[in-house]
Amino acid sequence: MASSIIVGTQWGDEGKGKVIDIMAAKADIVVRSSGGNNAGHTVVHGDEVYKLHLLPSGILYPETECLIGSGVVIDPKVLIEEIDEMNKRGVACDNLRIDARADIIMPWHRELDKLEEAFKAKQTGTNVGTTGRGIGPCYTDKAERVGIRMYDLVHPECLKKLVKNTGELKNLVIEKVYGGKAFDLDEVYEEYKAYGERLAKYVADVSVITFDAYKAGKQILFEGAQATLLDIDFGTYPYVTSSHPIAGGACVGTGIGPKMIDEVIGVGKSYTTRVGNGPFPTELNDELGELIRNRGGEFGTTTGRPRRTGWFDAVIMRHAVRVNGLTAIAINKFDTLSGIGTLKVCTAYEKSDGTILKDFPVILEELADCKPVYEEIEGYDGDLSQCRTFDELPEKCRAYIARLEELCGCPITILGVGPGRDQVIFR
Ligand code: IMP
Repeated sequence: MASSIIVGTQWGDEGKGKVIDIMAAKADIVVRSSGGNNAGHTVVHGDEVYKLHLLPSGILYPETECLIGSGVVIDPKVLIEEIDEMNKRGVACDNLRIDARADIIMPWHRELDKLEEAFKAKQTGTNVGTTGRGIGPCYTDKAERVGIRMYDLVHPECLKKLVKNTGELKNLVIEKVYGGKAFDLDEVYEEYKAYGERLAKYVADVSVITFDAYKAGKQILFEGAQATLLDIDFGTYPYVTSSHPIAGGACVGTGIGPKMIDEVIGVGKSYTTRVGNGPFPTELNDELGELIRNRGGEFGTTTGRPRRTGWFDAVIMRHAVRVNGLTAIAINKFDTLSGIGTLKVCTAYEKSDGTILKDFPVILEELADCKPVYEEIEGYDGDLSQCRTFDELPEKCRAYIARLEELCGCPITILGVGPGRDQVIFR
């Protein structure tokens, strides 16, 4: 395959990093196209564990070009810390390029993220449950056409003007609307100017690099962040992120055309998890949910928050198959469910008026009114962590996989049986 997109199919944290890392080993180029440091990818390389937030997973391969596309929002402080940490561990990061169009997360974005969340919680008793990294406010400025972009960061004269103009308005909002503390704009300018000096050597036109690589027949991997149900249009709005983690977002967030994509792989887990607020039909608010959380290590890479856990939801996976045009599915963590007894899979939803829904509802209120229709499947036992072929898996596990495939309408070709890079089965 010349170009592949990897997307999350559920609410994130499906183990995309591992699949991406395996595929990055064969790629010439790895591109990130949406989100920012709200993402957290854990990559296990030999005995080393890397937690990446902004750097593309291919960064561990010096020969692989690692690109951050225009659709990504960049907190330069976080990016520099990540580069420094990698340098300390012997990873040079000379293979990194960042699109000049990518928007920069400023300190007021982080501040407004927190203030807005607190205001919403006070006003309505709930909020989005964001990561607090300033993602939403940064994308808001982009849509409003007042953002500060990578190009501006590395051109002090542009940066100075924009920090003053945008900063004055942001300070007014922080002080007058929320009663917060204004930023010293001279300090912000000096801090960000220094970031610009550090990052200048990485700035490029990622659209051109990607297009040229495609023309040259190179292997391109589009590394998804977040997931389908966090997409601003096709996710569980308003409990979503502010970008397009679905497959189409890879084109928009890189600057390439849809006909340049050959393969779209959706990554999921053998169960479902969610961080933050909002309806979750198959959620297990009981000891079993706790067991899955502990066995699966379901605690946020970015925030450390415990993830909500629940059964596999085929309605969600069919939604992901459709909106991403999935050509294959990768399912992680089959090992986590081993030995927990009878398994349940949600095949459809039932609304309070008795209506059965096969497709994921458009409106959140409708989703909140949905109860899962479950099919029970015999559970499987045994240590899966050493299995490397499909036939080595316990028979009942294979039957579970076959049923998931039928219910989702897409082949499951990659199966995770442990956190290691080698603990994976390709079919
Ligand atoms: P934001 O992206 O920080 O604005 O957060 C919006 C919602 O997306 C919150 O519910 C977050 O928990 C969720 N979210 C953002 N990024 C990720 C991710 O990488 N994994 C899982 N959830 C995420």
